[in-house]
Amino acid sequence: MTIELRPLTAADAEAHCAGEDALTVRWLTGGYGDVEGTIKFFEQLTQNATTGTGKRGFGIWNSDRLCGYIDYTPDLDDGLDPEDVALAYAVHPWARGQGIAVQAVHLICNTLRTTKTGTRAAIRVEPQNTASVRVAQKSGFTYIRDFPSNRDTHPDGTPTTFSLYLLDL
Ligand SMILES: CC(C)(COP(=O)(O)OP(=O)(O)OC[C@H]1O[C@@H](n2cnc3c(N)ncnc32)[C@H](O)[C@@H]1OP(=O)(O)O)[C@@H](O)C(=O)NCCC(=O)NCCS
Repeated sequence: MTIELRPLTAADAEAHCAGEDALTVRWLTGGYGDVEGTIKFFEQLTQNATTGTGKRGFGIWNSDRLCGYIDYTPDLDDGLDPEDVALAYAVHPWARGQGIAVQAVHLICNTLRTTKTGTRAAIRVEPQNTASVRVAQKSGFTYIRDFPSNRDTHPDGTPTTFSLYLLDL
């Protein structure tokens, strides 16, 4: 298994959308994407990479097949300190349970070190999302605290609770 992170292009949009399922929507995106909107999102990621600002997103490839998505956001302040860099990820359903997310987290942390971005990588995960909690634990992150989000809410309007896991870079 060779896991690589690479920038996403319009040619990847269909495979990216096909890799979304109910768990991706529940724990990460809040809704299914379509190809047109996904292409715009990838263009925004390309622009962010060019300007060096905002969210940087990458496809996760396993032996040349797109199998997931991972990003980092240096300027997210919801529950984080200024030097914390938030990570978010999803693995396509058919590729889950093989440790791919852990490898992708490892690779993106290497990118943060190489580019001297932030001092700590942060995973903010709802405690009920046991698969992602396991990714944080297996990636060597330390549980810090639970906190109510100041921007994400449940359908009934109450704030989402996140568990914060951090890794020194
Ligand atoms: C969280 C997620 C990225 C994990 O990716 P992954 O590459 O399957 O991660 P791992 O292989 O390390 O497995 C992590 C845990 O998932 C669970 N798991 C194992 N096989 C699985 C499968 N086939 N399907 C779903 N979950 C599985 C197990 O609890 C596993 O922990 P374990 O290794 O202690 O048994 C993936 O489940 C996903 O895309 N979920 C939806 C999006 C999401 O939750 N993103 C994170 C938001 S904070």
